Amino acid sequence: MQPAPHVSVLLHESVGLLAPAPGRRFLDCTLGAGGHTAALLAAGAAVVGIDRDPRARDLARERLAGYADRLQVLAMTFADAAVQLAAEGETFDGVLADLGVSSMQIDDAGRGFSLRDTARADMRMGDGCPDDAIALIDRTRESDLADIIYRYGEERLSRRIASALKRARAAGVDSAAGLAEAIRGCVPGHQPRHPALRTFQALRIAVNDELGELETLLAQLPRLVATGGTAVVISFHSLEDRLVKTSFRAQRDRGLWAEIARKPVVPQDPETEANPRAHSAKLRWARRVA
Ligand SMILES: C[S@@+](CC[C@H](N)C(=O)[O-])C[C@H]1O[C@@H](n2cnc3c(N)ncnc32)[C@H](O)[C@@H]1O
Repeated sequence: MQPAPHVSVLLHESVGLLAPAPGRRFLDCTLGAGGHTAALLAAGAAVVGIDRDPRARDLARERLAGYADRLQVLAMTFADAAVQLAAEGETFDGVLADLGVSSMQIDDAGRGFSLRDTARADMRMGDGCPDDAIALIDRTRESDLADIIYRYGEERLSRRIASALKRARAAGVDSAAGLAEAIRGCVPGHQPRHPALRTFQALRIAVNDELGELETLLAQLPRLVATGGTAVVISFHSLEDRLVKTSFRAQRDRGLWAEIARKPVVPQDPETEANPRAHSAKLRWARRVA
């Protein structure tokens, strides 16, 4: 197996909660580089892995070729897969979702996720996204674009930034780096973090309908987890964590979960020191009665 190009977050904690063993079967909604799935397979379990990104699927298949007899890879969004699998009556001993983009996707020059990328600001993770970020900026009215930036980026300068993005597009700018510069140019003073980071997060969430995907998955989760099984969701920003927390609580109150995490599990210092991406990670779990 090749070395992991993406460092899995909260790996030990999630695998501990899922308790993989021979004869147990799991659904990994976000296969990525296959890091979490590799740990489940190594413990003897079987995995159905989903990823909407064809490059991620190819890489995971290659890295996990030694386990091909226990790994099935689905080329779908996890929302579509969850609805389909639940309708078919499929259940799993555990379901994992490790949300967001992988570091491979961000580092993949040409996909426009990174502030430094000189390619078109595409930002689509893969299947099921009608518009890329440029098309989204072009077809959205400036006031609606500001709302997207405010809601999904929690950016208080959203109106000014939306106007700067529209001006940049009128001037023919379509690269991620060009948009990042246009945003920097309209934010006054020195900023500790690049002033375009929150807007890039907002555009990415909108392009990939990340919150809609998560809501659909969360609604199906209790049907997908077998009796005695566990759902584990790792999120990376407050909008996602809020959705997970509210959904798990509401479902527990309806008797769909026996127990849910009272507090999110967060990475320990050694993990955040070794992997800056882990900083904002929050894991929440929910368990069905045995
Ligand atoms: C954070 S990475 C997962 C990393 C993986 N757990 C590992 O350890 O290697 C998230 C992956 O989920 C995929 N993804 C994100 N949202 C998705 C969705 N709605 N449907 C299917 N795949 C999705 C992305 O393409 C990306 O490859």
